[in-house]
Amino acid sequence: MDLFDPRTYEAVRRPLLEAETLPVECYTSPEFFQREIDTIFMKVWNFIGRADYIPNPGDYYTQDFAGVPLLIVRGDDGQVQAFINSCRHRGAKMVTGKGSSKGIKCGYHGWMYKTDGALMAAPGMAASKGFDKADYPLLKVKTGIWAGFIFVNFDPDSESLEHYLGNIDMPFSSYHLENMVCTQRKVYEVDCNWKIYVENAMEAFHVPHVHRASINRQRGSVANDRTFDSTAGDWVVMHKEHEGTRAVILGDASFPRLPSLTGKAAKGTYYPLLYPSTMLGCAIDCMWFLEIHPVTATTMRLVVGACFPKEITQRPDFDEIVKNYYKRWDITTAEDIAISVQQQEGISNKFSKPGRLSEHEPLVHAIDNWVLDHVLGVKNRKRSFQGFSLTDLDVLPENIVA
Ligand code: FES
Ligand SMILES: [Fe+2]
Repeated sequence: MDLFDPRTYEAVRRPLLEAETLPVECYTSPEFFQREIDTIFMKVWNFIGRADYIPNPGDYYTQDFAGVPLLIVRGDDGQVQAFINSCRHRGAKMVTGKGSSKGIKCGYHGWMYKTDGALMAAPGMAASKGFDKADYPLLKVKTGIWAGFIFVNFDPDSESLEHYLGNIDMPFSSYHLENMVCTQRKVYEVDCNWKIYVENAMEAFHVPHVHRASINRQRGSVANDRTFDSTAGDWVVMHKEHEGTRAVILGDASFPRLPSLTGKAAKGTYYPLLYPSTMLGCAIDCMWFLEIHPVTATTMRLVVGACFPKEITQRPDFDEIVKNYYKRWDITTAEDIAISVQQQEGISNKFSKPGRLSEHEPLVHAIDNWVLDHVLGVKNRKRSFQGFSLTDLDVLPENIVA
């Protein structure tokens, strides 16, 4: 089997209701994984944290992504900039964790950098010939911000973040996500391929089984309630219409609805996937994010973040009520991790073969084909998704052709 021959994927490329799932090697092979790193994660915009982690000039945090150590700093000018977290002397990671400082000092031999990356002190270098501090600034990584989310792109020649995300503002502007603050961030090391977790997050077909005892109790308030809206740009979205918030378990106390919400945002939950691996849950009272980092072919890192409007976090009862939200995310994350690891265990053997997809899994199909477009180097790939609801199934097959 040639993993990089388009003919290998003929069955994945068919319309949804005729398509097979990806060959299992796509979830286990180190060669396929490396090709994903090279053609996806080193080329597209990757979400690496919220701007509200570092509200003031001099604030910084560190984060490894796809094997690259990053240092993200808010400069004296207020701008957020990511750097490679590697000293220009002999390459040590300079700082770990997070903090605030007028400059970045390497912990090995004390080289000092300004918050804009310029090298300002290089002790011990006076006798070194032809050495000019100006030649050794920290290495910058292209950085962009959308709605308070910080993205990096490792390819200096890449398109702008704005162009990459296309018309994403359209459904989300009424949430004012840029004004939200992240109040809890949990990190999980998960033993599965990154696509397994992304696929899980973008279908609700598993909810009655995997979340039987938790969020499944909220089902069924509206018939034919799931829609997959049209998008333009490198993102897709699912919307579920329902009463109340999906961010707490039914019956638990919650915060009031955001008064600014309009349209479908006011009547349910939007679940966008910003390709390749950032999922948001935009509920009527909060937003949570899933940030997925590829680690190896069969392991990944998951960051789950909880975000609320600043004024909600200032309520006297915030600390008490927010526990209901954290409980819900802890429970459903554990359930999704367990089934994702089980899926990886199930397919990681030489007997496994591709399966088939249902009408409930259009975004699994879309994600897998988006990955193939990159890995196989498809020119002029399609960058829009034509939406439909689960009542429009007669038009589905044509709409979902990749
Ligand atoms: S490696 Fe940073 S000062 Fe030597
Ligand atoms: Fe789930």
